Parts: sequence; C-alpha cells; structure tokens
Amino acid sequence: MADYLYSNVNKVTTNILQKMRNEGEKIAMLTAYDYSLAKLLDIAKIDVILVGDSAANVMAGYKTTLPITLDEMIYHASSVVRAVERALVVVDMPFGTYQGNSKEALHSAIRIMKESGADAVKLEGGEEVHESIERIISAGIPVMGHLGLMPQSINKFGTYAVRATEEAEAEKLIQDAQKLESYGCFSLVLEKIPAEVAKQVTQMIHIPTIGIGAGQHTSGQVLVLHDMLGITQQFSPRFLRRYHNLSEEIIRAVGTYIEDVKNIDFPNEKEQY
Ligand code: KIV
Repeated sequence: MADYLYSNVNKVTTNILQKMRNEGEKIAMLTAYDYSLAKLLDIAKIDVILVGDSAANVMAGYKTTLPITLDEMIYHASSVVRAVERALVVVDMPFGTYQGNSKEALHSAIRIMKESGADAVKLEGGEEVHESIERIISAGIPVMGHLGLMPQSINKFGTYAVRATEEAEAEKLIQDAQKLESYGCFSLVLEKIPAEVAKQVTQMIHIPTIGIGAGQHTSGQVLVLHDMLGITQQFSPRFLRRYHNLSEEIIRAVGTYIEDVKNIDFPNEKEQY
C-alpha cells in the first residue's frame, strides 16, 4: 500500500479532511454497511466510510433509497463503527427523518450519533433543508451535504439522469454549495453532475467536495462498494469503474462447494473430528 501525506494518522477527522483538501491530497471514500467489509476497508486505509442509504438498494433490494428506516440505518452504522479504528464514519440520514422540521432532524441525528457511535451525518439538499442542517451542527454534530443527483428526490425528478446540465440548475447548485458551506457543513458530496460544474464548485468553496460521477476536479471520490467490487451486476453507469468482478468469483466458489457436497468430496477426513 502506498503512503500518502495523511496515511499514517491514527484517526481521520473532519479537520484532517480539510487539511487534505488544502494540501491537495485527494480523499478516498467508499460505502460500507456491515462489520466484515468495513474492517477490510479500514485495514486498506480508506479515508471515509459512508454508511449510505444505498443500503436500501444493495443490502435490502429496494428499488429506491426511500424505504430504509432510521432504525435500519443505525443497525448498519453500528456494525460499521464496531469494525473501524481509523476511517471517518459518516451516516446517511434516511428519507423522512430530517425534511419535516429541524427539531425532528436534530432528534434523528442525535439518535444516529448516540446509538451507532458514528462521526458525522450526511443529508441531501440545499437551502430547503438549512434549518435542519444548522440545528444539527449547533448540537456539535458534523454534517456532510449532498447536491446534484439526490436519490431521495427520485419521485420529484422521475429519473437518475445527470443533473445540472442546464445553466439555471447549475447556477442553483453552485449557490446551494456556497450556502451549505456557510451553514457550516464540513464537506459536500456532488453526485452525477458535469465535471465543469463540479470543478467550479470545488474552486469556489473552501470545504472538501467528494464526487461520484462528477469528474476528477473534486477534492475526493466516492463509490458504492458493492458496485466497484462487481458484486452488483445490473448497475453500470459511465462513472462506475469496476475494480473487481466479485460476483463471478462468488458464483464460481459457491458452484464448486455445491459440487463438493454432492460428490461427498467435502468434508474430507482432515476436515472432520
Ligand atoms: O447512499 C449512498 O451510497 C450515497 C453515495 C452514492 C454518495 O449517498
């Protein structure tokens, strides 16, 4: 494993992410939802683990991220936190737990922090959720923003297509990014927007931007772990680089196990008591 400026910190904090951004070291973030895979990511020295509400898709098989509940997110987050020593752990606030009013948002964020032991929360939206963001931050809970494609708003937009391709939407996104910084967000996810827009945002604000389908000019990158490992097969957007084809390997290994059991080749004498 190569060494980078901040590889050897014992614990990644929001301050470390800010230093990485200031000194030009890119931030590597991946999702995880369970103890075993989170442990591997932490050993590999990932900077940030996002317990994303994409758990609704990859762990539970829902079509959208909307159904996952606060209790389910806390279950995934606490499994991840038990595995992690170094990475910053950020937890998505699920749909319906922060949009209603800021008191409810604070209550949801406090539950995530108290019951899972995570380091920060993430939520989708710009100016429209400012009261929630400011109230959560005023309680001492770090907030990561999320603009561009916001999967929790799928029913408003009706599509997962690239966002901010029109000037008016790009302008609104840039303004929202500046507002999120002014509310006190420590970082910002930019999902599926033109690379030029992401570059502009990254140059205009001073907090780290983390891109997914947003080009190479953001301060860091995030992918869904199951997608980049090739565990999921159906999802193949242009921005997704697959680093492995685990689904094939798993199917092959399970096939070999089935054959071994059927042919009474497993267990052998050394594998019994
Ligand atoms: O839920 C998630 O995994 C996310 C990332 C795609 C940024 O929000």
